[in-house]
Amino acid sequence: MAKETKKTAPKANKVETTGHVWDGIEEYNNPLPRWWVWVFLACIVFAIGYCVYYPSWPTANGFLRGTAGWSQYKQLADRQAEADAAKAPFEAKIAQMTPAQIAADPELRPYAVASGKAAFAINCSQCHGAGSAGAKGYPNLLDDEWLYGGTLDDIYTTITHGIRSKDDDETRDMGPMPAFGRDEMLTKEEIFNVIAYVRSLSNKALPGSSAIDEGKTIFADNCASCHNDGGIGNRELGAPPLNNAIWLYGGDGKTLAETLHGGRGGVMPAFSKRLDAGTIKKLAVYVHSLGGGEE
Ligand code: HEC
Ligand code: HEC
Repeated sequence: MAKETKKTAPKANKVETTGHVWDGIEEYNNPLPRWWVWVFLACIVFAIGYCVYYPSWPTANGFLRGTAGWSQYKQLADRQAEADAAKAPFEAKIAQMTPAQIAADPELRPYAVASGKAAFAINCSQCHGAGSAGAKGYPNLLDDEWLYGGTLDDIYTTITHGIRSKDDDETRDMGPMPAFGRDEMLTKEEIFNVIAYVRSLSNKALPGSSAIDEGKTIFADNCASCHNDGGIGNRELGAPPLNNAIWLYGGDGKTLAETLHGGRGGVMPAFSKRLDAGTIKKLAVYVHSLGGGEE
């Protein structure tokens, strides 16, 4: 290192300096490298051209729009138009077909499922969950238990007209689950007994008791008209099966007491006025594909 410094020192002395010296360190007055100057000038020329062609400087009442007419909105619109054009042949076919025909078409099915999934995320996931597994009062759409049926047509009808939806005359509404407690249709004791019976339907391990026996009679008189003998449910009325471990609201004593006291009547909005028929068909194909779809 020491050697090198000696060698270069005399050379350096010949270089023109600016005359500035700090603690013995002089400032050279070398010209800027030529390539650097050219790149610098090229940048200026490019920047001027860019400002003329593309939107650039703000002005008093907006901004310079540039001669290209480019904007992010236009770019988005162009790309959407491209995507729409690519989808058009599929959408035209879907418009002519039933959900069952779409689901059976090897070319359209994957398209409908993907497109339905996107529409589900926007329109349905708030209530049914991002993974469609539902929540208390919002049915799970992954399993094969259905309030109103799991065929493509059933699902299509449910989405189109909703359930107990106020703004659709054809909505699914065969009446709510009555409020047996609040409306004094059953006494506290009768409710206690019928709950014991309902719990025994899904939990065969429960030991027999007089409450269950009494509940059985109460059930036959008050509940079987909708939930059927043995609580197997009735899709015509949207009365869920009570004889398995799948619950819309819950099968624990507290939730059952709430259901029997105040009744239940879940509301699902009708989508006939919010979404076009093609989107509803794709949603039906998507929901049907989730695992619980029926023939
Ligand atoms: C505001 C909440 C809400 C939104 C949004 C909603 N649902 Fe529902 N959905 C419900 C409720 C609540 C029920 C159950 C109604 C009942 O208790 O009878 C239901 C029931 C259903 C059923 C019937 C399930 C069965 O077991 O028969 C299907 C299918 C369904 N929804 C699909 C969808 C689809 C697809 C969308 C989006 C287009 C959607 N829902 C949007 C609340 C919603
Ligand atoms: C008029 C028809 C009708 C009668 C009568 C009726 N239910 Fe219901 N029940 C329904 C409907 C419809 C639902 C679903 C409500 C909903 O989707 O929000 C339901 C829901 C339930 C639930 C909730 C199930 C869950 O998965 O969380 C229970 C429990 C139940 N009923 C028990 C009974 C019992 C016990 C009786 C008799 C004392 C009875 N129901 C009588 C129509 C009826």
